[in-house]
This record gives sequence, C-alpha cells and structure tokens, in this order.
Amino acid sequence: MNLKLSFYTLIFVVALCTSISCKEKTTIEKANDLTVSEGFKNPLGFYDSSPSFSWKLPVAEDVKHQSAYHIVVASSEDLLPDNADLWDSGKQMTDQSIWVKYEGKPLESRQKVYWQVKYWNQDEDASVWSAINHFELGLLNNSDWKAQWVGLDTKAEGILGSQENIIHRPQYLRKGFELSGDVASARLYITAKGVFDVAINGQDVSDDVMPPGYTPYKERIETITYDVTSVIESGQNTIGVELASGWHSSRLGWKKALWVDTETPKVLCQLELTMKDGTKEIIVSDDSWKGTTNGPIRLSEIYDGETYDANLEMEGWTTNNFSDKDWSSVNSFPITNNIRLEPKRHTTVKSKIELATQEIIQKDGTVIFDLKQNMVGVPLLKVPMKKGETLKVRFAEMLSPDGTFYTKNYRSALSTNYYTASKDGVIDWMPKFTFHGFRYIELSGFDTTIEPTKDWVTGMVQYSDFDENGTFTSSHEKLNQLQSNIVWGMRGNFFDIPTDCPQRDERMGWTGDAQVFGPTSMFNADVYKFWASWLQSVRESQFENGAIPWVVPDVLFDGKVSAGWGDVCTIIPYKIYQRTGDVKILEDNFEMMKAWVAYHQESSENLISKMGFFADWLQPYPENGDNKGDTKLNVIGTAFFAQSAHITAKTAKILGNNDDYNTYYKLYKSVSEQFSNQFFNTDGTIKNATETQTSYLLALAFKLLPEEKHEGAKQNLLKKIAEADNHLRTGFLGTPLLSQVLDETGEIDLMYKLLFNETYPSWFYSINQGASTIWERWNSYSKAEGFNPQNMNSLNHYAYGAIGEWMYERIAGIAPLEAGYKVIRIAPEPKSPLTSASAELNTPYGKVASSWEINEGTFTLNVTIPPNTTAKVILPETLESIEDTNDIKTISSETDDTELLVQPGTYTFKSKL
Ligand code: BGC
Repeated sequence: MNLKLSFYTLIFVVALCTSISCKEKTTIEKANDLTVSEGFKNPLGFYDSSPSFSWKLPVAEDVKHQSAYHIVVASSEDLLPDNADLWDSGKQMTDQSIWVKYEGKPLESRQKVYWQVKYWNQDEDASVWSAINHFELGLLNNSDWKAQWVGLDTKAEGILGSQENIIHRPQYLRKGFELSGDVASARLYITAKGVFDVAINGQDVSDDVMPPGYTPYKERIETITYDVTSVIESGQNTIGVELASGWHSSRLGWKKALWVDTETPKVLCQLELTMKDGTKEIIVSDDSWKGTTNGPIRLSEIYDGETYDANLEMEGWTTNNFSDKDWSSVNSFPITNNIRLEPKRHTTVKSKIELATQEIIQKDGTVIFDLKQNMVGVPLLKVPMKKGETLKVRFAEMLSPDGTFYTKNYRSALSTNYYTASKDGVIDWMPKFTFHGFRYIELSGFDTTIEPTKDWVTGMVQYSDFDENGTFTSSHEKLNQLQSNIVWGMRGNFFDIPTDCPQRDERMGWTGDAQVFGPTSMFNADVYKFWASWLQSVRESQFENGAIPWVVPDVLFDGKVSAGWGDVCTIIPYKIYQRTGDVKILEDNFEMMKAWVAYHQESSENLISKMGFFADWLQPYPENGDNKGDTKLNVIGTAFFAQSAHITAKTAKILGNNDDYNTYYKLYKSVSEQFSNQFFNTDGTIKNATETQTSYLLALAFKLLPEEKHEGAKQNLLKKIAEADNHLRTGFLGTPLLSQVLDETGEIDLMYKLLFNETYPSWFYSINQGASTIWERWNSYSKAEGFNPQNMNSLNHYAYGAIGEWMYERIAGIAPLEAGYKVIRIAPEPKSPLTSASAELNTPYGKVASSWEINEGTFTLNVTIPPNTTAKVILPETLESIEDTNDIKTISSETDDTELLVQPGTYTFKSKL
C-alpha cells in the first residue's frame, strides 16, 4: 500500500508524571527491575561469583537519561547503603545502566549478597536508593561437596526396553535424621545423574520438572539449591528422593550402541542447616541411605513414557512414619573432579500453562480428548477407574483423516503411559519423569460405566521457566495464527535445552535448528539465560579440532559436523549481543568462535569448503528428491565459513582485540573473494553449482560478492522466485535469509507476497491445513494428500518460525540500532493486506512499543521509547512541517521517508491520508 500523505500532524504525549510538583522534586523516582547477570531476579543457588548488575529507570517525565550511577553491595542488608562491605562503586559518571560488572571482594559459595543502586538523571538530579535486592550463591566448587553419589544398581536388574535398551527402574531413596535444636535456615543442595523429585517430611520441596536438566554430563552436571527452612522440624526428619533415568541414563538418539551401557542413575544431596543457636549441621547422601525400586513408578523413559502402579504406593515414605527396614542399602560413590558440579545457570522446567480439553471424540470404542493446541508436557488425569484396571494413555499430534491416531511420526518413541488403579474412584495423576508432544490424548481402561467428561484431561504445558516478554499482533488473522504457532513452537522446544522437536525419538539439541530460530526466540521470551547456559554446553562439546557436533549435548558421539549447524557458535552469541548489549556473551564464546573458524579453514581447500552435511535441509521440490535440497554443499560451507569469520572479526573488534579483528576480517574478505570467483560469473549468475534461491540468498545475506555482481545476483534471485510462481524454495538455512535479503534490497512488497502466500510452500499453507505449531516440513500434512509419507515428520519443529524476527523488526518495526536497544530503530513497513500491526518488547532498558494503524484515511503510529535510550523513527512518507522539540528532532526528510531522532516517552504520529 502506498501511503499518500498530504500532511502530518504530530502529537506527542509524554507518559506519566506531568504535574508541576514532579518537576520541583529534588530527588527522582528510584530505579526498578534490578537483575544480576543474564537477568536473574534475587536468585538462590546462583552460579555467578563475578556477576553484573542491571536496572531500569522509571518511566517518568523527569527521567530521560542516566548521567551517573552508584552501586553498593554488602554482606548484610543493615550495611546498606552507607557501610557497604563488599563493594562501593562510588558515583560513576556514565549512562551505563545494564551489565555493570561487579568489582568488589571475591564472593564465595553459599554467600548471600545484598545490593542496591541509585542513579542521576540527565539534569544530575539524584534518585532515591532502589529497593535492596539480593542473591545467594550455590556450591561453586566440587570441593564444597561432602556428599556422595548414591543409588541402587538398577542396571543389574537387566530390564530391557522397547529398543532392547537397558531400562533403569525408578528408585526411591530415603534417609531419616535427627536434629537437636531448632533450625534458623536450611539449604538443600541437590543434583542427580538422572532426574529427581525431592520431598522432606512429606512436603514437596519444589514444583520443578525433571531437574537438574540436561547438560554434557561427562563434563558438567548442574546442581540446584532449595530453601527448605520451612519444612525442617526440630527432632526427627526424613528426606526422600525419587530418581529416574531422564536424559542421563535413557536411550537418546538413534544409535543402539550408545544405550547398552548407560550408567545407573544416582543422586547427590547435601542438606546444610544453620541452627538457631548458631551451630551448623550437615546431612549428606552416603551409604547410610536406603532405597527401593519397588515403588509405584515402575518405568519411566523420555521417549517411551511412564508406567505407574498405585498398588505400590508407599504411604508416607518421605515422612518419619515409615519403616524402610525392607529397603536395601544404597551403593555410594565419591564425587570425582573430572565432572564439574556447578549451580544451574538458567531456570528449571515447570508446568507453565494449563490447557483444558476442548472436545471429546468417541469412535470405535476409543475416547480421544482434543486440546486443540499442539503442546509439550504431560496430561493431568482425573479419570474414574475401577480397582485393578489399567488406564492406557496414548498421545498424537494429529488424527489421520479417518479419525485414527497418527503416531507414525513418533517413530520408535512409544510415548504411552499406564496407570493401574488400587481402588475404585477418580484418580489424580500426572506422569513425572517423561514428557510428550501432543494435541490429542486417547484413553482406554477407565470405568466405562461413566460417560467421559472434559475435566478428565488437562494439558500441563511444560517448558523452561522464562517469562514471555514480547508480543506481536496485527489485523490479519492468519498472521496472528503464525505468531501463535511460532510462540507454541518455542514453548514446545525449550525444554531445558533448545530441541529440534519434542515428540519423536530425538528431542535433541540440534545446533542448526537453534541457529535459525534463536533470534526470533529472543523477541518472544526472556531467554538470555537459557541461551547463555546452552552455549556453555556447546563450548564443552566442541571437539579438540574446533568442530561443533550436530547436537549439544552430544549424544551421537560420532564426530560428525555440518556447515550451517556448527555456525550456531558464532551466530547465536553475536545475535544475543545485539539484543542485550552484554559483551560478556562475546567474551565467553570468542575462543569457541575462533576454534570453529579454524575448523572451517581446515575443512576447506583454497578456502572453498569441503565440509559436509545437511545443506539446505528440507528445501521444497528438490530436483534430486533428497532432504538436503539442491544448493551445493561447497556453496553453503564456504558461505558459512565467510560469515563465521566475519562475525568473529566483528566480535574481536567489540572486545577491543585489533589483531584478531584484522586477521578475521582479512579471512572473511579472502573467503568471500574465493566464493565469488568460484561460484559467481561477473553478471551475478551462479557457476559451477546448481542455481537455487538459497545460493543467491547466502551470497547476498552474508555480503560475499563485490559491488559489481550484487545487482545481477539480486535480479537472479528475483528471477528464481518468479519462476517459482513467487514462492519460496528454501529449507532450514535459506528461509531465515529470505526476509533479510528481500528487505535489504528493497523488495519488501515481494517479502509481503511470500509471507502472505496461501499455497505450498508458504507459512500460511500449514495454517490452512490446521497447524497450531510450526511444522518440520512445509508440507508435513495437507487436507488433500494427508501426511507426508516420510516418518521424519514432526508437527512441532521451530525452525521455520525464524520469520518471527522480521515480523517484529519490520512489520511492527522494532529493531536494535545499537546493541541492547540503546538506540532503537522504529521503522514499520505498513503494506497491504495489513491495516494494522503492533509489537511490544521488554528490552534491557524497558518496554518499547510500536503500533500502527490505517483507519478511515488516517495513518497512526504509536511509539513508546524507554528511558536511557533514544530512537530513530523512520516514517514511510515525508513528514511535512514538523517542528523540532527537545524530544523530537528531524534527521532527514526525503521524498519517501522521514527520519526522526526521538527521546524517551510515548508519542503518537498521525497523518490524514
Ligand atoms: C532433526 C533436525 C535436524 C536434522 C539434521 C533431524 O532429524 O529433527 O531438525 O536439524 O535432523 O538434518
């Protein structure tokens, strides 16, 4: 849509605090939303003894920018603000309000730290001190642990699973202990080789799902800290731990050889008590603990599901009123230093959302509960049963056209739960140590004299416990459904690590999928800690030669590498830096980037890549019928080689490392030159390789061609798109580049066309076929032809959701111009068929909003810019007669757009069409 704007009127409304009295104040409102390191709020069991501090300035008329800050840090609340014994930053004249590094006394395991901050505004008025925030460190070193790993030898039972794999029966472990006095404070430090649930004196210690989570266990196991002060009693106490295989000891991946020798699950736990009289007590896991495998959870595996027998429930087994005389003594094993025990560095998985059943379908004796949303987690089952009967619970993401369950795409994952009732009545059960990807639940084995009702089944949606902190909405129903599908794809695949899919026999940290979807996830949710944590796992999984494995944690162990997949180690840290402005993410990952680029170099000849593998995975209409598509691997590998060298160069520059900057920039230039000579004619057409949309996209997105070939390459890309009847022909690697390249080359109308296409292949195609998540394939299912015949056909695979980044940045128009949104670009592209779009994003500085609408000939843009930032607002047409104010200055006014420099506040720009 071409906006013909005769004149603009400009209104700006500065939010809040407009009264005169506010102006007269000598002190200004305090800073809020204080966080440490990657956005933790008052964490317990914190991992970082060199934290950074961030805060937000209040939205107030007298607060536009920060001119100085003062941080005080103390070992006790009473010492603040005047007697800070750990660190007093003094007044620092700077506008830095995020990621301020702690420079005080060294911090130790268990230490509780209190801090607050004040700031001065642009007029050098001082704020009052912020509220006091705190954090408490976990056990930072292996030497802090006095406990031993304990468990029963479940391997000896020799139970074989569905793939002839060893199954470890879940264990129940307990220990009674006596305290002589009253407890003042109690901390439980705990982890497992496996997954656990812990209770003390019959009370659940937390609602965490499958802690401690999934890391490269041979390198590092995360530990969790719980404040258990309120459940400890004076006198006799009991601690009980349920322990199952989880990711540690289940089969994962498709290689049988890996499953035969999984180590038996074990738990490690250390309860540290400070008594009211000041004495300390410590209770540790050791060989005095007792255990049994004769409890109600009979089996539990990630892929195959859980089996529960209520007849074996052990009433009160985590209380003092239970005799464990028939239980076995556990085996104990000292901790070793080759596996680092470190506090978990992001949030645990929790049950985050409850989905009610929408419809019950009864067919041929089965009863199917439809949640009308593909989700990940477990069902909460409240089903009437008869004593001795076994409820069978099956899952499916979709029904086949004939109404039957489609489970072929789960492949070998049995994904089935069983519950045997111990009495007549309504059960109340939720599986504990498994999870499923599903929309439909099929039940059999319940009390058939009772008519099923919707309240029998509730979907408990489980994912890492992050806040969602961005929204996008528009006037177009299908675009809104796409946004919803993107968000559900994220919820479904952020189960402690970023996974490819949540339902079949994979659920692994596929690096390529993470590389393409990561940037979009950063808009939709507060996932900095999630990614920073997984990147540590990537560093730990990097091979000696710099290669990055296909999946992280690496459970395939075959040393195989793929271009475009391993590049996650350069692309994601850099994207995170752009979104957060935190140089720490670059510092932490710089060595990994360099080693990966060295691996690229080693895998090339004359700088042309010989690296293999997945190529433009799942490109539609491949000429050779292959999942790898038609774009040549050497084109892909060389392009990513150049791109990773380029990112490494830019990183070096930000880190102030000029030598490395020069080295990697030169390398990027040399690889680009080789790429251009080897694969592109002077007119910008491809040579020595198949011509595909993705080859052109790689060349243009990664800036690999000299100026003179650029226009030709662009025209060839447009030709390829036109030949495909204005449809995409891109797979995992090409798709995220489409919007970037078409946008940068001024082809926004065409990008709108591709995005709003309804026919295959397009984003709306899957929506038209009923998708409520992003699918693995552009044609995983169609109403006309049914399911894609291949069994690699996940209906919850976030990769193509990568388009979300462009929806925020260009349809709604919010992008960082300077890292961390210190300078924001508001540049929406209002185009048909949309009449409105809006997004909100909680940046490190606070909320940014951009919302536009065209209504009865009036174009309106509402913008909110948070304190301590500025924005460049780019309006799609010329602004006439705008007068500069303190808050808005015209930077340029050309025929087809106007650029304004805008200060913090809320503004409305209006124009009559
Ligand atoms: C996964 C991916 C992954 C791919 C490698 C698949 O099995 O589900 O999404 O990136 O293998 O090509």
